[in-house]
Amino acid sequence: MIVYFNGQYIPKEQVVISPDDRGFLLADGTYEVVRIYRGKPYRIKDHLDRFAESLSKIRINFPNPHVFESITEELIRLNGLENAEAALYIQITRGVAPRRHPFPDPSTPPTVYATVYPVKPDTAKWESGVNVILTPDIRWSRCDIKSVSLLANVLAAQEASEQGAEEAVFVRNGFITEGTHTNVCAVFGGEVWTHPAGEFILGGITRESVRELCQQAGIGFVEKPIPYDRFLKADEAFLLGTTTEIMPVVEVNGKKIGTGRRGTVAKKLQELFFEMTHS
Ligand SMILES: Cc1ncc(COP(=O)(O)O)c(C=O)c1O
Repeated sequence: MIVYFNGQYIPKEQVVISPDDRGFLLADGTYEVVRIYRGKPYRIKDHLDRFAESLSKIRINFPNPHVFESITEELIRLNGLENAEAALYIQITRGVAPRRHPFPDPSTPPTVYATVYPVKPDTAKWESGVNVILTPDIRWSRCDIKSVSLLANVLAAQEASEQGAEEAVFVRNGFITEGTHTNVCAVFGGEVWTHPAGEFILGGITRESVRELCQQAGIGFVEKPIPYDRFLKADEAFLLGTTTEIMPVVEVNGKKIGTGRRGTVAKKLQELFFEMTHS
């Protein structure tokens, strides 16, 4: 596998990251994941806009994140993934410096890494749906930043895994926020509800696609926090994410949601999403 590391295309085994990297010591960095359908990155401009925002919010100076458009093309070519189902992962940290909390000298170059890798879509689960658990949202109040500090997400995802669930859905002050790596929607009376964008969720790119698809299909898209007890009584629910796509939720904390099967709104949106990503 050929990866991009600090300006060079090299075999992954040759990447050397210092133990003084602030990503390693302090999780001081940000990342992006972009889905590649049949060799073509999906909405990469939107992902890179969000990456630019995250970099600016954490004050890492990286002048042109849109350079990853051509880097991605090159990585796809170098790894022979021109027709593949794949994903791009990019990470930038505040670079290598002796461990101190404040920013290092402004001349410190950021550490830059990008890789593409094949993915296998979860087609069976898109039909059968998955179960999730609810868990308290113990994260910080800047979930809009796609930070590599993911410890709370890791602990919640592990809790889900130990309970045989696919995802953990966070509850903050009685309201559903999002999953550990997904946005969360519920359907009430034919309308799709999801937490408003802001500091308590990551504004997902898939969420934007679904907003557009709802508009196209005449389905209401309501950005309002959902009380967790109302969520349990939803007609249907689903998760949204770059590699998760639109994943029906059929069980929450071991109890059925709606009919306990993929709902009609989820199915319709999945069909439209497939057209959108494969046109
Ligand atoms: C916490 C969180 N929320 C939502 C999402 C979904 O965002 P996107 O659709 O851009 O992948 C992700 C994706 O990784 C995430 O980590």
